[in-house]
Amino acid sequence: MRKPLLAANWKMNQTVSESLDWLADFNREIAGVLNNKDVDAVFCPPFTALYPLHQVIASQKMDICLGAQDLFWQEAGAFTGEISPGMLAECGVSYVICGHSERRTLLQESSEMISKKCGAAVAAGLVPILCVGETLSIREGGLTQEWLEAQLYESLDFWDGKSEIVVAYEPIWAIGTGQAATAADAEAACAIIRDNLREKGAGFADQVRILYGGSVTPENAAELMSGANVDGALVGGASLKAAAFAGICRAVFAENSQG
Ligand code: 13P
Repeated sequence: MRKPLLAANWKMNQTVSESLDWLADFNREIAGVLNNKDVDAVFCPPFTALYPLHQVIASQKMDICLGAQDLFWQEAGAFTGEISPGMLAECGVSYVICGHSERRTLLQESSEMISKKCGAAVAAGLVPILCVGETLSIREGGLTQEWLEAQLYESLDFWDGKSEIVVAYEPIWAIGTGQAATAADAEAACAIIRDNLREKGAGFADQVRILYGGSVTPENAAELMSGANVDGALVGGASLKAAAFAGICRAVFAENSQG
């Protein structure tokens, strides 16, 4: 049984003070409902908010994990503007998003770079959340499976088949559009991903958590996660409001505790 994982990707939103307010609101919303035996909740704020959030989470012993939205694959050196795995680990980070489609498209990150980032994360004891997903034209052309397989083949070059990773299926056409995939489409894509993981990590693929991302809301979260291979969600817009993200956590928690 894989523990559901709900990750909030705030993208380039929330100042430090807004992040702290958000955390206080979320904690109030979720108090007594959620604990990390049932669901892992992960927040991925901008880098600037990581350490202040870590201090509050640690001092109040909250059942919340911190994630970063990116990292660089070197530990130190002349890499202006980059941030290293060790710097993130010191800020209490345990997960890191790698290869989000916004970085793949806006910043031309290649799968080769993303594989290096994931490998550096694992080496530093962080769990990479590797993102893959197709555009609308690839889907309409009937090439979703081939696309996902190619992205996985290249982006998983680092993987030894047994270290902990998370994969997020985020169809680009569903991100920020209000047009989520159907539960059946999400399950079909996540099943393709798990089959591909088996090729490298035969004994471990069933333990890897695979998330769906793209217009997840409190209303559709439980349905989207109903497929056997969908183990959680990576949430953008709806995670910016503490009440909405808490609603997603509650919906998934209720579903999980029934079944
Ligand atoms: P939305 O939830 O806003 O569609 O964003 C999804 C996403 O990109 C999460 O990484």
